[in-house]
Amino acid sequence: MKEVLLKVRNLSKTFRSDKGILKALDDVSFDVCKGETLGVVGESGCGKTTLGRCVVGLLKPDHGTIVFSDASKHKQIIFQDPYNSVDPYWTVEKIVCETCNDRKKAVKLLKEVGLTEDEKDSFPHELSGGQLQRVGIARALGGDPDFIVCDEPVSALDVSYQSKIISLLEDLQQENDLTYLFISHDLAVVRHIADRIMIMYKGQIMEIGETSQVVNKPAHPYTRFLLSAVPAPFGEKKQFDIRDDEVVSEGCPFAPRCPYRKDVCLKNRRMLKEIYEGHMAACYNINTDGGQ
Ligand SMILES: Nc1ncnc2c1ncn2[C@@H]1O[C@H](COP(=O)(O)OP(=O)(O)OP(=O)(O)O)[C@@H](O)[C@H]1O
Ligand SMILES: [Mg+2]
Repeated sequence: MKEVLLKVRNLSKTFRSDKGILKALDDVSFDVCKGETLGVVGESGCGKTTLGRCVVGLLKPDHGTIVFSDASKHKQIIFQDPYNSVDPYWTVEKIVCETCNDRKKAVKLLKEVGLTEDEKDSFPHELSGGQLQRVGIARALGGDPDFIVCDEPVSALDVSYQSKIISLLEDLQQENDLTYLFISHDLAVVRHIADRIMIMYKGQIMEIGETSQVVNKPAHPYTRFLLSAVPAPFGEKKQFDIRDDEVVSEGCPFAPRCPYRKDVCLKNRRMLKEIYEGHMAACYNINTDGGQ
């Protein structure tokens, strides 16, 4: 049995706006095991960043608990937008020192993430997005974390930088025994790096399980929809109606878009149900073999 590092239970967070109350997280529960990468996938606005910020303590949830095991030391976050997450008037060295408070260590970390000593005196605007994201990674490592929320660490970068940053994160994980909550809207990126994948839609978990299970035997229609957008071998390609986006307050949030919906889907939310060891989905239409 793997050691659980993080337990999240019944997490909810609402925001108030002129349009009313928005449930950014709606009763979210999951575990993260030590040393694993849990990928969090879903379209823009589904609550991924809100989840990441709650987990590292930057946002206070309305309800629910976030418990790290006693063995856990420090948690850090790599932010979605490298330019907006640093002070433009700080040098690279100062940015990294924010977490480690040690100039020698900052320089060592900058080398570790592939920057040169010359770059320590640069300002953010003098760096490329890829270089600045490396600074963000060095800053996270400066806090000696054992857990890092990687919030879309490559989505603001050119494709040419993306795979380099992903392999850097993979190497650092091996060397430092890190646990990642790896957030992305891109299933193609997450399926490479994650041990398990959690699919979110409108603040709720639609499906969670081992990457191979979720990718090869997707149980939720929304996961199938996401996979059908990924250029990879995937059997069924069902046409999804993505126009209808009405709000369903009590039912499944995906029901208005779902080609398989029944009346019950619009009325009652389906809680996550185990289909296969550790593979769960929130859908009324699932057979135990994972098919529709
Ligand atoms: N501080 C805030 N005040 C009001 N609404 C917010 C706030 N932060 C987030 N939201 C709203 O909550 C929802 C979830 O936002 P969040 O940033 O967590 O989504 P996301 O999945 O990270 O999206 P993206 O893929 O675009 O980064 C969105 O509808 C967003 O507009
Ligand atoms: Mg986000």
